[in-house]
Amino acid sequence: MAMRKPIIAGNWKMYLNVDQSIDLIEEMLDDLDEIQGVDKVVCPSYVSLAPVAEYLEGSSVKLGAQNAHWEEAGAYTGGVSVLMLEDLCQYVILGHSERRQYFNETDELVNRKVRLAIAHNIKPIVCIGENLEQNEAGRTEEVVSTQLRGSLAGLDPGQVPGLVIAYEPVWAIGTGRAATGEGANAVIAMVRRLVGDMYGAEAADAVRIQYGGSVKSSNIAEVLSQPEIDGALVGGASLKADEFVSIVQQAAEIRGSKE
Ligand code: PGA
Repeated sequence: MAMRKPIIAGNWKMYLNVDQSIDLIEEMLDDLDEIQGVDKVVCPSYVSLAPVAEYLEGSSVKLGAQNAHWEEAGAYTGGVSVLMLEDLCQYVILGHSERRQYFNETDELVNRKVRLAIAHNIKPIVCIGENLEQNEAGRTEEVVSTQLRGSLAGLDPGQVPGLVIAYEPVWAIGTGRAATGEGANAVIAMVRRLVGDMYGAEAADAVRIQYGGSVKSSNIAEVLSQPEIDGALVGGASLKADEFVSIVQQAAEIRGSKE
């Protein structure tokens, strides 16, 4: 099995103004910085990116945006381009289910964003996942496969190891009802096989696949004890310094790569 470095990312969503964002990062930074063998990423809102980036300078904590536009520039009022993010961020969350649900983002649109991010050296965290109705109808594999194929279409196999995929069942997001470790592992194993079909065994072995959906300090161990799961995309619990530090700490203990 490949030695995939675990990655924990905190998605702050539409919470925290600039001062609150700085307060949160200030509270966690020393502790996070000390933890090794895990990639650590925080994803504040757009307006907090620059001040948080300044604060993170010289630390091992990386910065991610929560979205990006599908064009590099243009008359798109309110849009934020990868050209504005590339000097600030190392990662960008793309195709989050909330973007798909409330902003009508399609796989095709997500694919354009993914390609643009890669072209500008920003690592996409590409989110996929079925909703409750689809899950209950036994359509998880079909839905997740379609999203993956569409979102990752047309890449060069050499680009795939730099990607992060986040499997986030919509019914588990913000509900307190996380998938079981085994359940998430089975879907993620399927996702990895599909990456193999699309881009070959080497890419599939190297790509990191996170689980997301109600991850917290009390269930991260169950998630990361699963062999196919390489980390977590954390929403609610990433807004609490002690919770997020504990999640990252446990990731290092359970799966930390030797550097
Ligand atoms: P949650 O959100 O951890 O609050 O469930 C996860 C996400 O939306 O990425």
